[in-house]
Amino acid sequence: MTIQQPDVATRTAVRLIDLHKSYAHDALPVYAVRGVSFALARGSFTAVMGPSGSGKSTLLSCAAGLDTPTRGQVVIGDRDISTLSPDALTRFRRDHIGFVFQAYNLVDHLPVIDNITLPVVLAGREPDVARLDELVEVVGLGGMGRRLPGELSGGQAQRAAIARALFTRPDVVFADEPTGALDSRTADHVLELLRSTARELGQTVVLVTHDPKVAAAADRVLFLGDGVLVDQLDDPTAEQINTRMLGLGR
Ligand SMILES: Nc1ncnc2c1ncn2[C@@H]1O[C@H](COP(=O)(O)OP(=O)(O)OP(=O)(O)O)[C@@H](O)[C@H]1O
Ligand SMILES: [Mg+2]
Repeated sequence: MTIQQPDVATRTAVRLIDLHKSYAHDALPVYAVRGVSFALARGSFTAVMGPSGSGKSTLLSCAAGLDTPTRGQVVIGDRDISTLSPDALTRFRRDHIGFVFQAYNLVDHLPVIDNITLPVVLAGREPDVARLDELVEVVGLGGMGRRLPGELSGGQAQRAAIARALFTRPDVVFADEPTGALDSRTADHVLELLRSTARELGQTVVLVTHDPKVAAAADRVLFLGDGVLVDQLDDPTAEQINTRMLGLGR
């Protein structure tokens, strides 16, 4: 690994160094991610694209410390999370990382507000009620805080999941296809929420998407093909992204 200047290192929010992840499947290994390295600046908004099965979700899970790489390092801020014990990693994730799952992962028997504060409550801390009220409004769920997830539409549930990921003001927010199940108007709203988060709070956002229009909102698009980083585009248009994706045989 090359030695970084201190100022460069502190402005980097996420660094992946030669990340590999394979799964044992019927005794045959599946190489989901095969040596990915990149560095993302603090406050940046990055989209990850690639055909189905190209390793996007695996990459995101490893980068967020939800899954353990087979080889390589994940550095969040100045912390190499690959070296943390499971307990230390759980604490680090709680304080520094937000994750929006494709399938929302809300707890069915808890109302929206309790879903949002759950990670903080589980950590034995007192949730910031003013922050909760503000966030419920910001994601457009005003008046719905007492509803159960089953009483929300898909878009509303996704916004509750985003509020949960943003609640602790994490340094980095990872989102796996947060707009995949939404109609285009709701998707725009969710996207604007994530983008304004990156801009105004200096948070770093990494988002997986299949939608070139969504990816065009990012500062940078990373393209994965068969577990390898095959290309990147900075400030691309949806047309440029579309062309690149067609080249990857999506
Ligand atoms: N738990 C697992 N066990 C075995 N193989 C897995 C597991 N999870 C993922 N894989 C395999 O790893 C590869 C990458 O999967 P991944 O879910 O990261 O792809 P993806 O790019 O997110 O795809 P999609 O766009 O369909 O969500 C695929 O070949 C997949 O079958
Ligand atoms: Mg996926």
